[in-house]
Amino acid sequence: MTSKLINLISVFATSVVFLLSITAIAKAQPHPVPFVDELNHTGVASCATAGCHGDQVTGDGAGPVVGQNEYFQWRSNTEKGAHSRAYEVLLTPHAKRIANNLGVGPAEQAAECLDCHADNVHAAKRSQRFQISDGVGCEACHGGAQNWLAFHRIGAGHEKNIEAGLYPTEDPVARARLCFGCHLGSSYENQFVNHRIMGAGHPRLKFELDLYTTIQKHHRVDADYRDRKTVAPGTQVWAVGQAMALERTLELLIDNNTGRAGAFPELVFFDCHACHQPISNGTNDLDWRPNPGRSLGPGAPILNDANLIMLVAAMRVIDPALATQLENEGRVLHAASQHSGSQFRTAAEALRITAAASAERIMNTDLSNPALVKSVLREIVSADTSRLYTNYAAAEQALFAVQRLSAALDMTDSAITSRIENASNAAQGPYAFQYGAFRSALFDISAQIEQYNWNMR
Ligand code: HEC
Ligand code: HEC
Ligand code: HEC
Ligand code: HEC
Repeated sequence: MTSKLINLISVFATSVVFLLSITAIAKAQPHPVPFVDELNHTGVASCATAGCHGDQVTGDGAGPVVGQNEYFQWRSNTEKGAHSRAYEVLLTPHAKRIANNLGVGPAEQAAECLDCHADNVHAAKRSQRFQISDGVGCEACHGGAQNWLAFHRIGAGHEKNIEAGLYPTEDPVARARLCFGCHLGSSYENQFVNHRIMGAGHPRLKFELDLYTTIQKHHRVDADYRDRKTVAPGTQVWAVGQAMALERTLELLIDNNTGRAGAFPELVFFDCHACHQPISNGTNDLDWRPNPGRSLGPGAPILNDANLIMLVAAMRVIDPALATQLENEGRVLHAASQHSGSQFRTAAEALRITAAASAERIMNTDLSNPALVKSVLREIVSADTSRLYTNYAAAEQALFAVQRLSAALDMTDSAITSRIENASNAAQGPYAFQYGAFRSALFDISAQIEQYNWNMR
């Protein structure tokens, strides 16, 4: 072979590798979240007209394709309508106090608040009918409508809409990235509630992707919906939400901007009530107790590991090898939190990679299979896992999981709901968490779930 030919071949090979890596990047490059989609946001008023998503006549949701009552659902005065009030919340005495304590000026004008309490896109990206006071409007989730507003009405088709900038909210992975921005935090400058903001009076954030999706649900899953979109089972939404919440938390923990506060690690990643609880002197149920998931003795701040515990329980069923890896890396991370900042970050990065691999594995698993879902539920309430619920944050996620998984399995009779109620009563809130009673309620649930025929709803 002449050297020229060899050169040619190697040029060819490099360009193939180059092209392959470009396609890999193009594939891996996720759809930008609406907050940074660089499209004009046309405002809720442009979605909410009669004949569109605010159709009075079909206010009961009788539109032929979509309900066309989405605007009224978004504005519901129940929990479901919280996003329509997210801006108004900034005008309350509570918000004023938080903003005063922080010295950020009026809350309703501060990017520190608006980046989560409204669709706070750049001024140049706001069309005529856009109003910041609409709070978390349609386009804060569905993406700037500049390029699809006109043609999505005439049935351009879902693919075309997505190409034009509609955000793929039906995809659980994309949805997690969207919701987490405001419900967990992101690395965009002001989309993060750190312990300073908590200390100023902001409520603790809690979130579970499947439950919160259900609470704010304003769409119907019918035949034409299934034609247009892939429907992920709720259990998959729950599981991938756990994996990605862990991944996002660790990303923020490793990031120098969000992970540190002066000499200390950022406290918001730790269990709030490990520090914020009455000093008990050995007299009540809030006392320190060992936790087999953490190699920590008494008196150490505890990383909030609620998502890790849920994910390990799910992966024990989906991929036991990954579950073991998560567990081991979790223990290493807890231990590293007591050593040095660099060991802590190295351990966090290792666990982050395994969490990402778990998310991918979950998306490739059929979680509409009742046998699998039943096994995951068993793991959540098992005696082994329930020993890890030593703190409220973990118990809260366990309760969400029990509620969502039992609903997915259509377990809705009073025998099970009354037992779930008992568990919920033992975990009424961070200062009223009864570890012993909670575990025995879960034990009761685990006995009861064996009584059912396993059909999925
Ligand atoms: C990372 C996103 C984020 C940032 C930044 C943020 N918030 Fe919030 N805020 C939320 C979420 C999410 C909730 C709802 C919490 C829940 O119910 O789980 C909330 C709840 C609140 C509440 C309680 C609302 C109610 O209905 O009782 C107030 C008040 C509030 N925020 C004020 C502020 C102020 C003032 C700022 C700016 C200093 C701010 N928030 C910054 C996400 C954020
Ligand atoms: C907090 C995020 C969020 C906000 C705010 C929001 N949506 Fe949605 N919307 C979703 C999610 C998630 C779904 C369900 C998944 C899907 O089908 O994309 C959905 C579904 C829909 C659907 C059903 C689509 C179909 O294919 O059947 C319509 C229509 C819709 N939303 C319109 C609106 C309108 C109009 C507004 C404002 C008045 C709005 N949404 C506000 C997140 C949001
Ligand atoms: C732009 C920021 C933002 C995005 C994106 C967002 N939320 Fe929210 N969400 C908020 C804020 C702020 C509140 C609290 C508003 C209030 O108290 O009235 C809230 C409240 C809620 C509530 C009511 C909870 C409660 O305790 O009252 C649910 C449910 C919810 N969000 C679900 C979701 C889901 C599911 C997604 C993703 C599809 C999502 N949110 C995306 C900012 C956001
Ligand atoms: C490692 C210990 C630690 C952790 C973990 C921690 N905090 Fe704090 N917190 C403190 C300290 C120290 C102060 C300052 C007390 C003071 O100013 O007197 C404080 C102050 C506060 C305050 C203001 C004072 C008060 O008690 O109302 C709030 C609110 C608060 N934290 C909320 C939270 C929330 C929410 C979390 C979890 C996301 C959390 N903290 C996690 C140690 C912690």
